[in-house]
Amino acid sequence: MPFAGRHVLLGVSGGIACYKSCTLARRLAEGGAAVDVVLTASAAEFVRPVTFEALTGRPVLTSLWQPDRALAHIGLARQPDLAIVAPATANLLARAAVGLADDLLTALLLARTGPVLAAPAMNDAMYAHPATRANVKTLAGRGWHFVGPDTGPLAEGPSERPGRMSEPEAVLAAAARLLLQRAPWLGKKVVVTAGPTREHVDPVRVVTNPSSGRMGYSVAEAAYARGADVVLVSGPSDLPLPLGVTTHRVETTAEMQRAVESLVKHADLLVMAAAPADYRPARPATGKRPRADGTLTLELEATPDILASLKPPSGCVVVGFALEAAGAEGGNGVARAQAKLREKHLDYIILNDALEPGAGFEVTTNRVTIIGKSGTPIELPLLDKRDVAERILDAVEQALT
Ligand code: CTP
Repeated sequence: MPFAGRHVLLGVSGGIACYKSCTLARRLAEGGAAVDVVLTASAAEFVRPVTFEALTGRPVLTSLWQPDRALAHIGLARQPDLAIVAPATANLLARAAVGLADDLLTALLLARTGPVLAAPAMNDAMYAHPATRANVKTLAGRGWHFVGPDTGPLAEGPSERPGRMSEPEAVLAAAARLLLQRAPWLGKKVVVTAGPTREHVDPVRVVTNPSSGRMGYSVAEAAYARGADVVLVSGPSDLPLPLGVTTHRVETTAEMQRAVESLVKHADLLVMAAAPADYRPARPATGKRPRADGTLTLELEATPDILASLKPPSGCVVVGFALEAAGAEGGNGVARAQAKLREKHLDYIILNDALEPGAGFEVTTNRVTIIGKSGTPIELPLLDKRDVAERILDAVEQALT
């Protein structure tokens, strides 16, 4: 709940992307934030103040000269937990970079000392212009944060160059991160794997497992929200890509191994939440195998064990998962997980049970036990996978140097 009880200033400058700011204002208010919207004069030409008033339930400010609001800008510059400027037009960025205070929004931004997040939106040539590049650099150097712009269709037609304002969900993810980020995670490089892998029997048939990827995607989202630079290595999954995270898609266990081996060289933390296929057909057919009556025997060979063969740099914290099926086999899942932790040289292992209701594959919840190299295992109750991810990151945070 990053926005609950928070105070957000939403500055809107005048571009066609103003329509996206309506959604942004709405989502922030729905998330529990008190949202004060400030429109520039040209923004008010695109969207009337009453629209934002209806969406936020609060008065909208448009001018330095509104009666009863003398000096309101000083309080409004300082009090909000976060200021978002969306869309931030070329003109607004230029005025803020120079330090002009010739309307309410620029006056607020000049008086502001807390975090500012800008979502630029303009014509692609304007964004590429050296003047705009210099303005963005100046503002970034003063601590402004930027999200986007995206590449995609602009008001004047299709474009392959950046200029389009990021979608409200991406702005919200970046905003949430600024509110939630924690010192131990800033600048940390985190690699997360997720989902199953797929090994081909022939071009149209595969050996795989029902992992959805949700646990790993949740870890990636949670680490991004804490301020880390996150790379996700994902096997086949239908989940939407986590916003703000760089995602590499892979198909086979060998592909996942290559990606992890290269990415881990610069990582501070690796979380192997993926369920790589342990076996692959020894001789995959190049053409589709014709159907035949009777039985088919496939010879399978072991895939590489990614964690067991990995050489992470010293100081990199490594977290594995242990998927046990204690319900069927009985026995001590914790002892087996501890054995995996030792054999794979892990710092932590997260034990879950594939056969327990509400845990493991294909569900949105999980019940895990967090096991470190020493100390008592931490048994968590059944939780949403995003909450499980937060608890895992809480546990490993102390190990991040
Ligand atoms: N793992 C891996 N490479 C594989 C298979 C698994 O790196 N080829 C990782 C998983 O991502 C997980 C950990 O190893 O973090 C343990 O996976 P799990 O399936 O529980 O154990 P296995 O080592 O495959 O052992 P077993 O199937 O015998 O329980």
